[in-house]
Amino acid sequence: MTAKITLLPGDGIGNEIIEGAVKVTKAVAEKFDMTLQFEERLIGGCSYDKYGKPLTEDTLQTCYDSDAVLLGAVGGYKWEALPHHLKPEAALLDLRKKLELFINIRPSKIFPAFVNDSSLKKEVLEGTDFIVLRELTGGIYFGEPRGYDKDKGWNTMSYTRPEVERIARKAFELAKNRSRKVTSVDKANVLEVSQFWREIVSEVHKDYPDIELSNMYVDNAAMQIVRNPRQFDVILTSNMFGDILSDIGGMITGSLGMLPSASLGEKYALYEPVHGSAPDIAGQNKANPIAAISSAAMMFDISFQMTKAAELIDAAIERTLKQGKRTVDIHSEGCELVSTQQMTDAILTNFEEIYNEQALGVFTL
Ligand code: IPM
Ligand code: MN
Repeated sequence: MTAKITLLPGDGIGNEIIEGAVKVTKAVAEKFDMTLQFEERLIGGCSYDKYGKPLTEDTLQTCYDSDAVLLGAVGGYKWEALPHHLKPEAALLDLRKKLELFINIRPSKIFPAFVNDSSLKKEVLEGTDFIVLRELTGGIYFGEPRGYDKDKGWNTMSYTRPEVERIARKAFELAKNRSRKVTSVDKANVLEVSQFWREIVSEVHKDYPDIELSNMYVDNAAMQIVRNPRQFDVILTSNMFGDILSDIGGMITGSLGMLPSASLGEKYALYEPVHGSAPDIAGQNKANPIAAISSAAMMFDISFQMTKAAELIDAAIERTLKQGKRTVDIHSEGCELVSTQQMTDAILTNFEEIYNEQALGVFTL
């Protein structure tokens, strides 16, 4: 099998963490007899600095021509004062829209080795395994009219029927292979658009009678995720609510530095960490590469149907954490503080070991 992967490291810690993901991706390809072609392009602030715009036609075309896109992060203090359409974040939003990536999957699954390192109690965390399914190309992020003048600022939160139907359908489909529970999160007590969302989700649910559907207001959902995260399986929600809830979900795993994501449409797929570009630690070999490496695992699983490769990567991460290795964002007393590169190398070593062990039958996934 041959696959074309576009690398968009972006800004801040992007380069360092994508480097880690690429190393792991190459190691997997070697074991699974896969030929990979990488193309690297600029996106975000670095693209603005070089070309005067955060997303160029060339970068976009390279993404269109690839089987999967692996993105680091965009943004940084340097570009904060730019007008909206030139900000690094605008590039990411534009890319999501142009590749029609309406599905965003953000898993919140606790690594067992990490259960004592979160800011939440072990009893609360243990066994947590849910996904935030975020609608990614609609809602208030893209609604018109939008703008601001000196007296007023305004945005529009709107959804069309097909937009809600397709993401709702995806939620029920995903739930089929999980614990068969969908919680649709909205603010239907206040917003008409949420009432509409709720009605469409219920209609789509009629096609999935064996999946349990419940509705929850977003403020309550934010509370419930930290109170009892085990109650959730698939959280289905709109663009902005999903942005917020997936960060909360991220803290369950201990650090945003651990959280991968997949953004999918009918034709294209993009994988990226949930976290940002962390300009404060950029270039210092301190960033946690796990979110980027797990994003690569999601790529193998979803884009290349290589579930076993994905499981091997996850097992390598788990073993590395169990060995007590921690980057600065997840470091606690008694653990070994490691750099981005050391974390990557440890995951690679464990990947090789686990691969050999399961070939010999001494390790089962
Ligand atoms: C995310 C980020 C983006 C978003 C930003 C960088 C545009 O926060 O992927 O969660 O708000 O969607
Ligand atoms: Mn976010």
